This record gives sequence, C-alpha cells and structure tokens, in this order.
Amino acid sequence: MVGPQLLRNRKVSRSVTFVAGLPRCGSGDSSGGNRQPSQQKKKAISSSSLLDLEAQKRHCLYTTANSAEEEIFRVRKLEIADKNKGFIELLQQLTVCDSVSDERFQERFQELAKYGDDHLVCVIEDDKSGKIVATGSVFIEKKFIRNCGKVGHIEDVVVDSSVRGKQLGKKIVEFLADHARLTGCYKVILDCSTDNIPFYERCGFKQKEVQMVKYFI
Ligand SMILES: CC(C)(COP(=O)(O)OP(=O)(O)OC[C@H]1O[C@@H](n2cnc3c(N)ncnc32)[C@H](O)[C@@H]1OP(=O)(O)O)[C@@H](O)C(=O)NCCC(=O)NCCS
Repeated sequence: MVGPQLLRNRKVSRSVTFVAGLPRCGSGDSSGGNRQPSQQKKKAISSSSLLDLEAQKRHCLYTTANSAEEEIFRVRKLEIADKNKGFIELLQQLTVCDSVSDERFQERFQELAKYGDDHLVCVIEDDKSGKIVATGSVFIEKKFIRNCGKVGHIEDVVVDSSVRGKQLGKKIVEFLADHARLTGCYKVILDCSTDNIPFYERCGFKQKEVQMVKYFI
C-alpha cells in the first residue's frame, strides 16, 4: 500500500509549483487582486502584525497538475463561511465529527477567536470548486519551564481524499509550524499514527518518545 502511494505522490509533486505574494493574496483585500506588490507590502506593514505579514507572503499556493491545466489553492485562516464550504465534511475524513449547527459553529469560532494568535485554524480552499480541501490547527501552550517558554501543538491535519499527494498536507503543516515559530515557540509537536510518520518526516519532524492517552468518553 505504501509503495504505490509514494510513487503516485512523488510523480504528482514534481509538477507542483509554489508561488507567494501573487495578486488577490492580501488578507481582507477588496481590490480584486489588482494591487501591485509594493502596494500590498505597504498595506501589510501599516495594518498588520508581523504574523499577518508573514502569512501574506505564504498566502497563495498555485499548483500546476500538468501543462494544460492549472489548479489554484488558497492558503488562509478559517472563516465562518467555511462551514458551508465543506469544512465539517472534511473533518469527517479525519475522525468522528458529527454535523454542527450554524449556531454552534459560530459560537465555537468566536470562542477560538478570543485566543488571538494562540490558536489558529488553517485551511486551503480550491479556487475552482470553492471547497475547503485541507485543514489543520495549532494551539500555543504557555509554560513556566524553559524560561516561560511556549510550545505549539499541531492537531487535526487532513487533506480531502481527492487531492492528496499534491503537497497540500505539507503546506498546511509548514504554515502551522511557521506560525508556532513566529509566535516564539521553542518547538512544535504533534501526535500521529505510525502510518503517517513518513509524511511528517517529509515535513521536517522527527519521532521522539511516545504518546499516552486517557479517554473520558
Ligand atoms: C496524511 C495526509 C494529511 C497527507 O496529506 P497529502 O496532501 O496527501 O501529503 P503531501 O502531498 O503534502 O505529502 C508530502 C510528502 O509526504 C509524503 N507522504 C504523504 N503521505 C505519505 C504516506 N502515507 N507515506 C509515506 N509518505 C507520504 C509524500 O510523498 C510527499 O513526499 P515528497 O515531499 O517527497 O514529495 C493525508 O493523507 C490525509 O489527510 N490523511 C487522512 C487524515 C490523516 O491521517 N491525518 C493526519 C492526522 S495526524
């Protein structure tokens, strides 16, 4: 199983191109993408934090599946409207995730927003279908050890089965790990199945120690 998957992914990934800072990438940009790079930079510096500026640099991901067809994927933070773009259905490919009412979704969204940069849900939207095809989150834990250090915890990484093998999972994990680094974390950690160890190694992680868990339900 692993062999063919590796071959398939490698074949596709050779034709993938990442482009940053392209038109229509500005966060909250209402210019429809016509803003020039220098204007984009000016806007980012005047109205955004360092995190937003860094995120903007990595905001767009263009992949070219073959010379005849270009696929455009947008990397950004979760928005409330994503509930109607298949976000919950995507999470259902990861684990048990019952349907969530609009009201509960909004409540949870607002609750998480209060954490500011200490909690981030990243999504990738397929420009063509308007669907959310990949997601992952990171939570920043504040500690007393290591000179009151901070640790990033990556959770809930999933890519829609129809677009796996196009480097989207890696892009999500890079985005989340970058966020942890930029918020001052000295490390970023995650739990995964043994099947996914090769994927996370490709994302720059290494295996260390073991996970312990106690479920309450
Ligand atoms: C695991 C998952 C997120 C990977 O996403 P993806 O978009 O298909 O992976 P990418 O295309 O970004 O792969 C990045 C690299 O990892 C490799 N890779 C990905 N999955 C792999 C696997 N199962 N075994 C070995 N290598 C793998 C790719 O070949 C690629 O290698 P390269 O950099 O040499 O080209 C996706 O398969 C998924 O959503 N699985 C179900 C949910 C899940 O298990 N989530 C993880 C929870 S911890």
